[in-house]
Amino acid sequence: MNTIALSHGELAYIDRGRGAPLLLIHGFPLDHTMWNEQIEALAEHARVIAPDLRGFGRSPLGEVDPERGISMEQYADELAELLDAIGNSDPIVLVGFSMGGYIAWQFVRKHVDRLRALVQCDTRAAADTDEARAGRIKMAEHVAEWGSGRVAEMMGPKLFSARALETKPRLMAEVRRVVESTPPAAIAAAQRGMAARPDVTAMLPSIQVPSLVLVGAADAISPPAEMRAIAEAIPHAQFVEIPDAGHMTTMENPAAVNDAIRRFISGVVSR
Ligand code: MLT
Repeated sequence: MNTIALSHGELAYIDRGRGAPLLLIHGFPLDHTMWNEQIEALAEHARVIAPDLRGFGRSPLGEVDPERGISMEQYADELAELLDAIGNSDPIVLVGFSMGGYIAWQFVRKHVDRLRALVQCDTRAAADTDEARAGRIKMAEHVAEWGSGRVAEMMGPKLFSARALETKPRLMAEVRRVVESTPPAAIAAAQRGMAARPDVTAMLPSIQVPSLVLVGAADAISPPAEMRAIAEAIPHAQFVEIPDAGHMTTMENPAAVNDAIRRFISGVVSR
């Protein structure tokens, strides 16, 4: 893993393979390891850049306004800064997962000139309901006293399909380890940022880059019907439903995810 100094502090990232750059943005409260299976497979065809967003994995949180947290736009700007810092000026294929998808929408809004294509996995375009927002703020306010372990307990069952929880307990154990080692302050900052994120539904018809929308058939957090509607709103977007997977498609059915992304990239790159 590499580290690089950005204006807010250090960012850790994986940079592997050659060819068209692919930037993978992980979900909450996870790190680049949720992409392990994709990094291995896709680095045979592309240059895979997979950062730990600030506060997650090996990236320190740095200074944060405790009331506002870190906005999706801020994370997106930091990723654009990362691309500059590593000297990548080639247009990227941006792959966002869940919170990484919320960040990807902001990247599209602010840095579209840097984009070659967009892959949105298990994410949402709508803002939170009042109830969901209140739940995030509650977690942000209490996570320091609860500890990150309780967040793993709260979120775990929703991340995976019932089948994976039963037949692949190793996956939940991996995620629990990552969540437990995430500092409560990073969890709070991201929750505040997600609570404040805008509804981007109205922006979808204006997206001009080739787009792929992926969702686990049993995703309980970003349901397939909602993701299908996102794909229908983005001009010419492709939609792929990943079988045998809940929210954590990249871990539950990596072969299907890799296959869908690989096919999509080869279509985009050969244009
Ligand atoms: C994620 O997987 O990134 C989260 O479930 C997103 C969210 O909390 O909305």
